[in-house]
Amino acid sequence: MSEKQEIILSGIRPTGRLHYGNYFGAVHHFIHLQEAGHRCYYFIADYHALTTITERVDFYRQTIDMLRTYVACGLDPVKSVIYRQSDLPCTAELALLLGMVTNIGHLERGTTYKDKLSKLTSKPGSEGNPLSYGLLGYPVLMAADILIVRADKVPVGDDQRQHVEMTMDIAQKFNHRFGETLKIPRATSRKALRLPGLDGGAKMGKSEHNTLDLLDDEKTVLKKIKAVQTSTDPLPLDTDSDLPEAVIPQMPPSVGMLYRLLNLLAPEDVYLDFLGKYRRKEKFYGMLKTTLAQHVSAFNAPIIERFNDPENSPEYVEDFLRENAKKVTPVGLATVEACREAIGIGHSLYRA
Ligand code: TYM
Repeated sequence: MSEKQEIILSGIRPTGRLHYGNYFGAVHHFIHLQEAGHRCYYFIADYHALTTITERVDFYRQTIDMLRTYVACGLDPVKSVIYRQSDLPCTAELALLLGMVTNIGHLERGTTYKDKLSKLTSKPGSEGNPLSYGLLGYPVLMAADILIVRADKVPVGDDQRQHVEMTMDIAQKFNHRFGETLKIPRATSRKALRLPGLDGGAKMGKSEHNTLDLLDDEKTVLKKIKAVQTSTDPLPLDTDSDLPEAVIPQMPPSVGMLYRLLNLLAPEDVYLDFLGKYRRKEKFYGMLKTTLAQHVSAFNAPIIERFNDPENSPEYVEDFLRENAKKVTPVGLATVEACREAIGIGHSLYRA
């Protein structure tokens, strides 16, 4: 292994199914880092999922299904420590301690919080559990997830970058106040991906109902891709570059999304061929959609097969969750104990 071994941590909320945004923004990097021999911690953020619920949800089943998809994508519970956030409850204790050094103003400037706030105020009368303390504190809990295993690097999609920056800030404040205790993770790459939704919306996301999922079968893939809005004529491209970063922003959003996916999944000559058709304004959208759907289905097929493999059963997932919770717990407790010591509360007497 040429790279230095680093501690990697990342998490995904148990929303049931993994979509292409999750995969190319996060899981794809998880696998690469796992295979490069780093010490990887990947978890299902079931506590975080509670910030938006208004009634009972079967998170347990959703967690198991997400983990079966993780395994189907190539994550290996022997090479990586794969666990459930709620199986490491000392994360909540660390979040409480970190909350003491976090300014409310800082949290109120969080983009996720501001987005939720503006959606609620633009929809008066919306029911439920609008702005909870848990939602405002979401980045503090996320900081606890990251700092508890002393992560060096946090692979996330572009939408989560600000949260990692907030984590760096919170850890610096803690260390400044109580002495060097927490390891500051590195900032995530500015080139992190934000995959648009099938509707051309800025972000593919479960709550936006615009996702293409890794477990979608051939029929569903074709139906979803055919439904993408392509009635707008190609817009002129004022660049000779073929790079997706240069051309995609100049296309109508939903068309740009199709090219983004084609660039991720198809061989380069296929992407370039369709880019040529776009420049020449040929009639090609029907063919573009069928070609893309074929590449998506070919990508999904082995994942669906491994998802349904009898060995990848809920019992198998429960077994490795149990084993991996045992591996991460001493790591987490050591960090919490160090923080308690640094603050002056002293070691926990019942854990000693
Ligand atoms: P979540 O569950 O919303 O998303 C999981 C991962 O998928 C990425 N992602 C995307 N990337 C590119 N384009 C998209 N359209 C797209 N949609 C989702 C996200 O950036 C993320 O990397 N707060 C986190 C979960 C979490 C966490 C953590 C992550 C909790 N604690 C600690 C890292 C470290 C979340 O809600 O991700």
